[in-house]
Parts: sequence; C-alpha cells; structure tokens
Amino acid sequence: MRTLLIAGNWKLNPTTTEAAVALAEGVKTGLGTATDVHVAVAPPFVFLGQVDGVLEGSPIGLSAQDMYWENSGAFTGEVSGCMLVDVGCTHVILGHSERRHGMGETSEVVNKKLKAALEAKLIPIVCIGETKEERLGEQTEAVLLEQLSGSLAGLSPEQAAGVVLAYEPVWAIGTGLTATPEQAQAAHAFIRGWLAKVFGEATAARVVVQYGGSVKPDNAVQLLGCPDIDGALVGGASLKASDFLAIIKAGQ
Ligand code: G3H
Repeated sequence: MRTLLIAGNWKLNPTTTEAAVALAEGVKTGLGTATDVHVAVAPPFVFLGQVDGVLEGSPIGLSAQDMYWENSGAFTGEVSGCMLVDVGCTHVILGHSERRHGMGETSEVVNKKLKAALEAKLIPIVCIGETKEERLGEQTEAVLLEQLSGSLAGLSPEQAAGVVLAYEPVWAIGTGLTATPEQAQAAHAFIRGWLAKVFGEATAARVVVQYGGSVKPDNAVQLLGCPDIDGALVGGASLKASDFLAIIKAGQ
C-alpha cells in the first residue's frame, strides 16, 4: 500500500549549473518514463530552476533541501515554500541532521517548517536519527521520540499521512558505515509504532519511512527489502547517475 520513495540529496554538490544539469539529465535518461517507485532529486537552491527544466516530462520529483516557514518578508538569506513551488518543487527535505547538528536546528523549528511546507502543498521529507554517542548510550529511542513528537507536533492524522520520514542514523551518514538491515528495521518499526500510537494504525500504515545513511547499490536490495523501510534518502551515491539508478532499480 506504500510506494517506495528513492530521493537523492545532492547536499552542497555539484558546484556548477552545467554539472547539475548533466547529473539531472543522466538520471532522467536512465530512468525513462515508467517507474514503480517514486523518485526525486534535491539539488542546491540555485540549480532548482534549471533542473526543473531538465526534468520536464519525467516522473522525477524535484526537492529542495530546506525552506523557511514564512512566505515573504525581511528574512535575509531564506527561501520560502511558495517560492519553491513556483520554481517547480514537489518535495522539501526538513530537519536533515546536517542542519540539526551543524546549524542548531531544533525540532520546534522543524515543526514550523513542516507546517509551512504542508500549507504550500510540498511533500515534506522529515529527517530524524541518533548520533553514535546516543546509540552507544542506548538513547536511540529517546532521541527518535523527541524528534518525532517535536517535529510532528500539532499535525492531524491526515496531515501526518502525507509526511515522509527519513530515518538517518547520524553515524551512518557519509561514513561508509550502514545500519544493518536488522538495526534499520528495528528503528523503522519503532517509528511506525509511535505513529500508530499518536495518529492511529491506519495513518501509520500510510506513512512512507525512508532509510538514509551510506545507501549504495550493493546494500540497497537488503535494506529496501525490510518490511518497514519504504525507500531511501541517498547522499553520496546520488551524485553519480549510474549508482543512483542502480539504487532505484533495487527498489523496483
Ligand atoms: O540525506 C542523505 C543522507 O544524509 C545520507 O548521506 O548517503 O552520503 O551517507 P550518505
């Protein structure tokens, strides 16, 4: 009942319009027009317009990597949900660990952005996950609880059903370390259990929960085969079209 979502988070890459367009073209050409899974790419803000042009006629969604919660006004350096929709975005990543830990973004801030994203009719991809110290200290569930309850506070079951969650253990991001399918499935089952408690079983069964953290062509089949893993949020491996396409194939 849930369709997998494979999304490529390009982060602060590539560094030129030419390279961004070439990467998007590579994914579009390789994917073709039919796919059993949902696919999206998340280039840096400045390339969104050009990449949207490239993706025309393809089923690939366009995602931003962040947004602000106000639509307009005196907020230097920010980009709003209505602006993202205007340049062709369908999705937006919120609360990535590089923002939570690198930029001090709290779950309260993520919650404001999430409500604004839903208002703008963007599909939000809300990231959650524990650090290595938190896992070693057996705090994984407590951290997930805080991030889930804080980030999704005040949502109706219908709104929650439209949110994509991305479980990204921080220790697995860009490190080459991947959660084992068992570790990932356990975290995903915990997340779905929380969703069921707060929003009801029917809603929990509809929420797409992606895994992120060093997903590569050679581990994608195993991870995506877990019952509560509904896709992947791919960083490094999404920067090479052939690797990203192989991960998409693993989900089909
Ligand atoms: O958003 C993507 C994640 O941070 C995963 O990045 O695949 O480079 O580990 P990675």
